[in-house]
Amino acid sequence: MSIVVTGATGALGRLVVDELLARVPASEIAAVVRNKEKAADLAARGVELRVADYSEPATLAGAFRAGDRVLLISGSEVGRRVPQHTAVIEAAKAAGVAQLAYTGILGGPDADFALADEHKATEQLILDSGLPYTFLRNGWYTENYTANLAPVLEHGAVVSNAGEGRIASAARADYAAAAAAVLTGEGHLGKAYELSGDVAWSLAEYAAEVSAASGKPVAYTSVAPEAHLAVLTGAGLPAAFAEILVDVDHAIERGRLAGTSGDLTRLIGRPTTPLAATVRAALTA
Ligand SMILES: NC(=O)c1ccc[n+]([C@@H]2O[C@H](COP(=O)([O-])OP(=O)(O)OC[C@H]3O[C@@H](n4cnc5c(N)ncnc54)[C@H](OP(=O)(O)O)[C@@H]3O)[C@@H](O)[C@H]2O)c1
Repeated sequence: MSIVVTGATGALGRLVVDELLARVPASEIAAVVRNKEKAADLAARGVELRVADYSEPATLAGAFRAGDRVLLISGSEVGRRVPQHTAVIEAAKAAGVAQLAYTGILGGPDADFALADEHKATEQLILDSGLPYTFLRNGWYTENYTANLAPVLEHGAVVSNAGEGRIASAARADYAAAAAAVLTGEGHLGKAYELSGDVAWSLAEYAAEVSAASGKPVAYTSVAPEAHLAVLTGAGLPAAFAEILVDVDHAIERGRLAGTSGDLTRLIGRPTTPLAATVRAALTA
């Protein structure tokens, strides 16, 4: 049996593999990747590569073995993920895996915004499959914001329709540590964890943090959804994706990504990474 990470060449997946390598021998870890060349560094570290694509069910036949503990990292192609995840779940079921952990979304079945729909459907498919599961309902990555620092600094502005809503984000590395904990520990089957940062912050506080760390003036402007949509599409985002982001920010205004259950800090045995640390790391990167 192996500990298997899908999406292992992605930003979260690589961090999960790093965490696993710190806990178990490389010979016990397998990475499901769709591009072997992209995963050459993982192979060089002794991780077994299994090539499969969520969109090509036949390729998933060799991805899992009986007794494997599997992390399904949700796909990145919004709108295509239900059939993709269905194929992964069916392959895991056919193989007889011992655990299927899934990276869903904070709030699980109660999350009432469009981006959550595919995650809710996937959780239900996993429940229906009868597989032993662990739901890792991830809140926002702080890096969703810090990856976008260049235009924020250029314009001295954070613009959103999230109002004064708060975001209990954590660093990707925190969510990765939680995933490794449930894949290597015991007592996590049949559990759903609401994973989020210890502290919820507002976008006004984020702007102040960026300003303090960079030494440049940055202010938050709360705008109507239509105005935010115009800013995003004006910056070149496809309309459909911009609409999803505006819908998420509306959910943030309603407090849907502000929950601080403490599940994440309990799983990783340390405080989550503070906003200030991720902002400073991004500025010095
Ligand atoms: N909580 C949050 O704030 C947040 C934010 C953004 C996304 N997410 C979700 O969390 C997931 C992980 O985040 P991330 O930052 O690691 O995203 P990422 O860097 O885009 O990684 C996505 C991973 O999924 C793999 N993948 C995508 N489509 C696939 C397919 N058809 N077959 C096999 N593998 C496929 C990618 O493979 P390649 O390396 O070959 O491309 C990559 O390894 C995302 O996919 C998304 O569902 C969460």
